[in-house]
Amino acid sequence: MTQISSDIDRAAEIIEAGGLVGFPTETVYGLGANALDAEAVERIFEAKRRPKDNPIIVHVSGIEMARELAESWGETATALSDQFWPGPLTLVVPKVDRIPDLVTAGLETVGLRAPSHPVAQKLVERAGVPVAAPSANRFQGVSPTRARHVVSELEGDVDLVLEGGATNVGIESTVLSIAHSPPRLLRPGMISLQQLHEHASQVSAIEVAEHSVEGAKPSPGMSPRHYAPSAKLEVIDAPLSQNNDLPSDTGYLLCREASPNDDERMLAIGANPEEYARNMYAGLRQLDSLGCQIIAVESPPTGTQWGAIRDRLSRATGGEWPG
Ligand code: TXA
Ligand code: MG
Repeated sequence: MTQISSDIDRAAEIIEAGGLVGFPTETVYGLGANALDAEAVERIFEAKRRPKDNPIIVHVSGIEMARELAESWGETATALSDQFWPGPLTLVVPKVDRIPDLVTAGLETVGLRAPSHPVAQKLVERAGVPVAAPSANRFQGVSPTRARHVVSELEGDVDLVLEGGATNVGIESTVLSIAHSPPRLLRPGMISLQQLHEHASQVSAIEVAEHSVEGAKPSPGMSPRHYAPSAKLEVIDAPLSQNNDLPSDTGYLLCREASPNDDERMLAIGANPEEYARNMYAGLRQLDSLGCQIIAVESPPTGTQWGAIRDRLSRATGGEWPG
């Protein structure tokens, strides 16, 4: 039985001993292992049923630990980490040899991130090693935003799950490669390209084409079907009108403050991007658990603040909705 616990010291011991710990970050829950221990990292891939050509993000306690894992740490890395760390930004930089190839899927670069969630910070500090952690869900599923989501997906395959409440950001970090010149956005997140550009002029504020990503394999966040619930997701462009006989197999994810009625299949998850992102994955899970075969999503507005949300919804439709 996988336990949910608040014992960070015990979790740190499990990491040191080569085990797996589910832990909260400000974005989503991660499935962590000692990033310097290839056997421990192997267990992450097994638990997630994740193909080995997907690199894993390495969580650090701060800039000092990051610099020890990066072959070089230039001006852009300094500017962006000073501004956005700890926080939901992953920087892809050239890696040192000490990081096993398994972590980076054989790439010469590593994605590093200093999380701002206090439980994640304490875990990395007490373990005393960098912690490799993808989102704590099965491959291509919806990322967990509560401790119980981790247990429901990975029961038996994770040694302990740390309690940290509902995550605040709700979707995965922005991933920026600064190993390329100019830097490239590999995954949009709630820290926008515009914000990055304001603090590092080397980062172009012009959105890069998602499939221009270089390297042996595209990023896992780039695969067309990712972040998907079991139900089929459809995005509806017109606002949903009041309707008395909704199909019984359909749930609705509404881009509003409040639901128009008390039907549990009509979930209002927020009208601003921060609130929407915070509630989106839990909303998809909830409609899944009600047995909905179809989830109809009221299309969120366009505009840069909604970009990462539209990206995740597009991927959850398998690319059928362009985002
Ligand atoms: O918010 C997050 O980033 C969460 C929490 C747990 O920190 N983690 C997460 O990890 O989403 P994961 O493994 O599910 O996503 C990894 C993302 C992928 O899009 C991958 O392409 C990118 O990070 N990535 C990691 N290392 C990379 C590398 N060396 N080169 C290119 N992309 C890399
Ligand atoms: Mg993931």
